[in-house]
Amino acid sequence: MSDLVFDAVSVRYGGRRGLTAVDGVKLTVPSGQVVGLVGESGSGKSTLARAAVGLSPVSAGRVLLGGVDVRELPRRPPLQMVFQDPYSSLDPRMSIGESITEAIPRGVLPGRAARRDEVARLLELVNLDPERADHLPGRLSGGQRQRVALARALAGRPEVLIADEITSALDVSVQGAVLNLVRSVQRRLGLSMLFISHNLAVIRYLSDIVAVMYLGRIVEVGPAEQVLTDPRHPYTRDLLAAAPSATTSLLGTGSDDVIADAEPADPHHPPGGCRYHPRCPVGPLVRADRDLCLRVDPAEGAAQRRHSAACHFSDNELTTSRGASAS
Ligand SMILES: Nc1ncnc2c1ncn2[C@@H]1O[C@H](COP(=O)(O)OP(=O)(O)OP(=O)(O)O)[C@@H](O)[C@H]1O
Ligand SMILES: [Mg+2]
Repeated sequence: MSDLVFDAVSVRYGGRRGLTAVDGVKLTVPSGQVVGLVGESGSGKSTLARAAVGLSPVSAGRVLLGGVDVRELPRRPPLQMVFQDPYSSLDPRMSIGESITEAIPRGVLPGRAARRDEVARLLELVNLDPERADHLPGRLSGGQRQRVALARALAGRPEVLIADEITSALDVSVQGAVLNLVRSVQRRLGLSMLFISHNLAVIRYLSDIVAVMYLGRIVEVGPAEQVLTDPRHPYTRDLLAAAPSATTSLLGTGSDDVIADAEPADPHHPPGGCRYHPRCPVGPLVRADRDLCLRVDPAEGAAQRRHSAACHFSDNELTTSRGASAS
């Protein structure tokens, strides 16, 4: 098992008029740990995740697994991804067993019987009756489909699992069970995991480390408990303040509209200086003396700051203009 490292990864879409969806991201998913990735819609979370599995175009930087560029890894894919939509992830004409068998790397289990046993083992691992192997996915609920998608991902015997909003399309009533399953499988197999969710309560439940993304950048990263109880970046504070249920209930209403009263950021025209300054409640909007935020990008010194926060004033008392201290 080895660390997954995003080493100054940038992803650009389109030509000259395009946008940089991920901008020089440095992030480590330590071996066997869960990194929860949060941030508002369009911040680049999926783009970053997809970069790790070769599904988004990396324009600069590298993704490394155990020090090796993932593009140079041998054929058996040590990274597997589970997606949001359980209805498009399975071929409706293939039985569940066939779908899972297809994901077993070639040559690993020669022989039909061995593959059938492996499918049964995987179905049991995700708490599905192995008898279901012959069923078509049309007969499954969304939660059961996500279990099959997880079994498929595990068929590749990955070291790293990437989960992108895997419960957000599910009924609230089954989300908890799927999350429990993911957590127990992650622990049992010692997987490293990059887990993306809008829902901070879900992030808290699963993550060892929390990373917060804003406009293509990681603006804060640190141990989950610290980031969630003592956030150092004003954006993280705003996220937490917008989701008050996050700290109390696992299935709080994770809101897509995290900062309801702010203009959404435009990734085609990221602001100069600190990218958060046009919305920041402790920046030049409310403190004229903080013109530093207009001029100097705080990302550079982030590694030296508490929780690696990309904020010039992260170590100051971050009282807000709304008087909403998020702690
Ligand atoms: N294939 C693509 N071509 C062009 N632009 C894209 C493409 N995929 C994503 N983008 C843009 O890149 C930015 C980041 O998108 P991304 O889907 O990574 O955000 P996200 O954080 O996953 O959002 P959400 O929470 O809604 O899933 C957005 O501005 C989006 O419009
Ligand atoms: Mg996404």
